[in-house]
Amino acid sequence: MKRISEAEMGGKQAETSNPRDRGSSIWCLLVLVIGALVVTAAALTILKYLHFSKNNEAHPINKKYADALELALQFFDVQKSGKLVDNRIPWRGDSGLQDGSEENLDLSKGMYDAGDAIKFGFPMAFTATVLSWSILEYGDQMNAVKQLGYAYNCLRWITDYLINSHPSENVLYFQVGDPGLDHKCWERPETMTERRPVTQVNTSFPGTEVAAETAAALASASLVFKENDPDYSSSLLTHARQLFTFADTYRASYSISIPQVQGFYNSTGYGDELLWAASWLYHATRDDSYLRYVTELNGQRFANMEITTWFSWDDKLAGTQVLLSRIIFFGAKDMPTVENLDLQMYRKTAELVMCGLLPDSPTATSRRTDGGLIWITEWNPLQHAVASAFLAVLYSDYMLTSQTETLYCSGNSYKPDDLRNFAISQ
Ligand SMILES: *[C@@H]1O[C@H](CO)[C@@H](O)[C@H](O)[C@H]1NC(C)=O
Ligand SMILES: *[C@@H]1O[C@H](CO)[C@@H](O)[C@H](O)[C@H]1NC(C)=O
Repeated sequence: MKRISEAEMGGKQAETSNPRDRGSSIWCLLVLVIGALVVTAAALTILKYLHFSKNNEAHPINKKYADALELALQFFDVQKSGKLVDNRIPWRGDSGLQDGSEENLDLSKGMYDAGDAIKFGFPMAFTATVLSWSILEYGDQMNAVKQLGYAYNCLRWITDYLINSHPSENVLYFQVGDPGLDHKCWERPETMTERRPVTQVNTSFPGTEVAAETAAALASASLVFKENDPDYSSSLLTHARQLFTFADTYRASYSISIPQVQGFYNSTGYGDELLWAASWLYHATRDDSYLRYVTELNGQRFANMEITTWFSWDDKLAGTQVLLSRIIFFGAKDMPTVENLDLQMYRKTAELVMCGLLPDSPTATSRRTDGGLIWITEWNPLQHAVASAFLAVLYSDYMLTSQTETLYCSGNSYKPDDLRNFAISQ
């Protein structure tokens, strides 16, 4: 988790990236595209709300966003490993069919990370979590442009893999392939010949953030599949609960336990993933123990209240704040006071994040280009622009749906539309 103080957010200097960061950040494509996907889906929602506005005039779907959504989902099809089913990408074929076989596991599915053929479980699980979230919030809009089926299919392609990568309670395989070997050669996964070792975390070499992120992915996906496939959904939830317990009981960063991972998707901490996973488990189960986990039990320790951060594959705090705000927006009525107060703090922090994003707010971050694009890192910079746009449009929709008219930033007031406009500008 990368913590960014308010001072830094308002600061002029761009974050300096060392050469090692560069190596790892090139491989974020999968994560980046999911951001584009949710923003385009969110943009479609705008139309839905307009549709219900006073004018009561049906607005046509904006083809530009519908096309972008379609392309974003096609990217997931391009990244698929395994024995392809109903493949719609003519130049892709079966690959990775033996992945996991050395451990008697079927790790053939899942998705490759970018132009390489590695399966990195940490960002892949994050991708699944955000895809689940976007389906849960914007599935109707995806359906309206005939993309929902593809979104389900891509999510399941990842969650099938994640289930198989969790063969017993305290073992999780989080990587297939050797980046050192793979990155030496520009090749098609269909014809690759390198050895494809698998790597696990377990009780002796724990990896809290990767186990917790996988729990978040499976818990959120269990909500997605709840109605259409209850058996699959409950299997996802069982794995999610077990993985969360494993992550929480054996607390250590996978970057420390297994230093080889530091070159790619190095993690800067696991507190954010624990809160994020518990928040999703709470939504999936309504089990109060997960709510207590994020509030009285661990809020102080991990939540960094009132400090704003950038939502990314390494840092889930801002996403957690928005997700937990949802409870305050839509149904904290019967909640015990302690939990309610802590949730209010999460929402307050989410508001600070929004105030940092709004370009003319008194606390607006100056970390943008002259044209207004959020610009945090030199390498893979669009991940932050799309992630920020995603959270802004979600927050805007939570405000609209709950009839919350105003967001205050140091005395200035803003409307849901201001957040939308920011998102569209990105
Ligand atoms: C536990 O994980 C470590 C790191 O991946 C691995 O070297 C070790 O063999 C695993 N332990 C068992 C019993 O498989
Ligand atoms: C990876 O993150 C850990 C903290 O989890 C840090 O100690 C280490 O220096 C980082 N490694 C690299 C190569 O950035």
